[in-house]
Amino acid sequence: MTDMALGYLVFEVSRPDVWREFAIRILGCQLADVSGGEACGLRVDDRAYRLLLRQGKADDLAVLGWTMKDETSLRALADRLAAAGVATEAFSATDLAARQVMAGLRFRDPMGLVNEAVVGLPEAATPFASDDMPGGFCTGEFGLGHAVLATGRQAAAMEDFYMRVVGLALTERIDTKIGPIKVDGSFLHCNRRHHSLALIAIPSRKRLLHFMLQVNRLRDVGIALQRARAAGIRPSLDLGQHPDPDGTVSFYAPTPSGFDFEIGAGSGAIDPSTHQTEIKTVTSDWGHKPSLRMQLRGAIDMIADKFRKAA
Ligand SMILES: [Fe+2]
Repeated sequence: MTDMALGYLVFEVSRPDVWREFAIRILGCQLADVSGGEACGLRVDDRAYRLLLRQGKADDLAVLGWTMKDETSLRALADRLAAAGVATEAFSATDLAARQVMAGLRFRDPMGLVNEAVVGLPEAATPFASDDMPGGFCTGEFGLGHAVLATGRQAAAMEDFYMRVVGLALTERIDTKIGPIKVDGSFLHCNRRHHSLALIAIPSRKRLLHFMLQVNRLRDVGIALQRARAAGIRPSLDLGQHPDPDGTVSFYAPTPSGFDFEIGAGSGAIDPSTHQTEIKTVTSDWGHKPSLRMQLRGAIDMIADKFRKAA
């Protein structure tokens, strides 16, 4: 614990060109040089890449990438996976070159999502610069924001896997409703970021509900929201604020793949050594009003899941 962070995400997208433009113009990312790896790479800080786009039909998360502090922590993770009977695959020379890392391994979670754990996420040759996100993104020891997965009926197995085997710890449980959707889930940390991964026990056609990027300046959240609206992207959850100790002021809106992004600022850090787990019954202190589209999407996924159960 605290020797890892969410390092990068690989999205399998049907329209990489559209996605690349969206990531640069709306999210404020910078194009990365990832020759030999995925279709396209995107930067949000001094690292060579943080988001990778892979051409494909899924329009969903393809890889959850963790950065480990050193080879000792990578070996400890490999040992925990082996003890739990989880198959792992050490990075090949091709994998190491594609990710530009010193060491890495690959494994799958109980729902089949590929995880990678690497040592030495490379630095970019130039400083990060974005006209659209002039204050920059908050990463460093906190890693790259967070990812929120839909776990459906695998909730218990997924939570057990990410906590007991991967090594994340529980920050908060949530038991509430957003519109008609019952939201029951866990927020997990692996460093001082409030959560690097959240698992929500709702049915969903996509594994990924949203990913979050934290920016350094509150004004950049407002400007990003204005930029999204001007581009015809309507928020799924309008501007709002999560309760303390998270405290993030953010909005959510759809990516070209259909899952959401969240851009937020002002996120509170936790102290993993003293943090007391809380149960929350609200996800927001104010705002975060869900759009009709988001409520309908949740309702359709619930109905589809009931039919699958009945079949
Ligand atoms: Fe979030």
